[in-house]
Amino acid sequence: MTSGTTAPRGTGAAGQRRGEPLPEALLDDAERLTRDQLRALQLDRLRASLRHAYENVAAYREKFDAAGVTPEDCRSLEDLARFPFTTKADLRDHYPFGMFAVPMDRVRRVHASSGTTGRPTVVGYTENDLSMWSDLVARSIRAAGGRPGHKVHVSYGYGLFTGGLGAHYGAERAGCLVIPASGGMTARQVQIIQDFRPEIIMITPSYMLTLLDEFERQGVDPRGSGLRVGIFGAEPWTEEMRREIEERTGIHAVDLYGLSEVIGPGVAQECVETKDGLHVWEDHFCPEVVDPITGEVLPEGEEGELVFTSLTKEALPIVRYRTRDLTRLLPGTARPAFRRIRKITGRCDDMIILRGVNVFPSQVEEIVLRTPGVAPHFQIQLTRRGRLDHMTVRVESRPGTGPEQRDTAAGAIVKGIKDGIGVSADVTVVAPETLERSLGKLRRVKDLREA
Ligand code: DLL
Repeated sequence: MTSGTTAPRGTGAAGQRRGEPLPEALLDDAERLTRDQLRALQLDRLRASLRHAYENVAAYREKFDAAGVTPEDCRSLEDLARFPFTTKADLRDHYPFGMFAVPMDRVRRVHASSGTTGRPTVVGYTENDLSMWSDLVARSIRAAGGRPGHKVHVSYGYGLFTGGLGAHYGAERAGCLVIPASGGMTARQVQIIQDFRPEIIMITPSYMLTLLDEFERQGVDPRGSGLRVGIFGAEPWTEEMRREIEERTGIHAVDLYGLSEVIGPGVAQECVETKDGLHVWEDHFCPEVVDPITGEVLPEGEEGELVFTSLTKEALPIVRYRTRDLTRLLPGTARPAFRRIRKITGRCDDMIILRGVNVFPSQVEEIVLRTPGVAPHFQIQLTRRGRLDHMTVRVESRPGTGPEQRDTAAGAIVKGIKDGIGVSADVTVVAPETLERSLGKLRRVKDLREA
């Protein structure tokens, strides 16, 4: 298979290599629109979608009525701000199918997001919804550097989680050959990658690290695997993690974002030629960034909570869904009509407040990954000492690191956290292979405060 399309092409602003842009001929029609044309399309679709939600979902009707708005009040895209938010609690309250907007015999598939507590949230798709989803994942794969004829190894979990099946059908739609590996059986995955030689891998960044350790264990250099692009998502990851993965593998590492309530993977994708944040596929979703406390819409460029409204979904139209994810909206680059979101820094829910200072696991990740002598495997433990919360970071050393180097690394991380984040933390450097490995979405924080 020849593919100059993803070959390195100079060095980007952040110091990374970049891939080749998508040839014109492979762009979707929507990717050729001007910003004004896209906004006009959005408004038409938004008005129809609000009407669909209002007429077919009692919960939306009640919420709109209580807020004193009707779908007709949406005359411009800015009017969306007058409509009430939807939260995970709304979906839970109408568990399992109470917010579906079509008769059940039109629903072709459901997925559910696990959630850490209580009932899962259930999402449904009509035939058109599934087709739109596949189109957007296919568009995302092309933006990442995937081309018809490529082999795509899917290590996102298959099942109720949207990652596996979402990636799978999108890759097929893109004209690729799919290897439906799912998560787990890591040694076998390494074998399959060597034997089948996929160009693309779709996987969580944390499970990619697990896979890379397995390559090492088997004495195989992942740089010779034939992989060219990794499409990473389903959890926050940093530029430092991108660098770690790209250096160890020689692939391009790009970011894929999505959430079940909106469709799953394929809501926004980073282009391989710019690696500068993720283009939101705005022909199907309207993004807003709001103040997480007041709910006020923030001007473009300001950091806040990402909110999504679906424009074309049939089974589960979603109006101003509060994602809890923190980011900024930025103007389009590689796809000029589509705005970007900056890499997600974390979720409102992941924020640790230590003596008044907000700490995100991604800040700790940045510090750990730039510290020599330690592996990119770490865990944050929260405990209570007296009346104060305390953070301990447990980090694995790299194989062959001596006690002196481990002490130096621990000291560097303590200092990095103190200087960079402004809190005191204990850092323990543990032996290689001692921390739990990810098989999918990683849980970075272990909260021992209740216990
Ligand atoms: O994780 C969908 C997905 C699958 C996206 C595969 C990308 C790849 P949920 O299980 O509903 O859906 O979890 C959604 O995961 O609100 C974010 O907090 C987080 N998340 C997803 N993608 C990213 C990303 C899927 N690229 C939740 N960066 C979202 C940071 C992400 N966080």
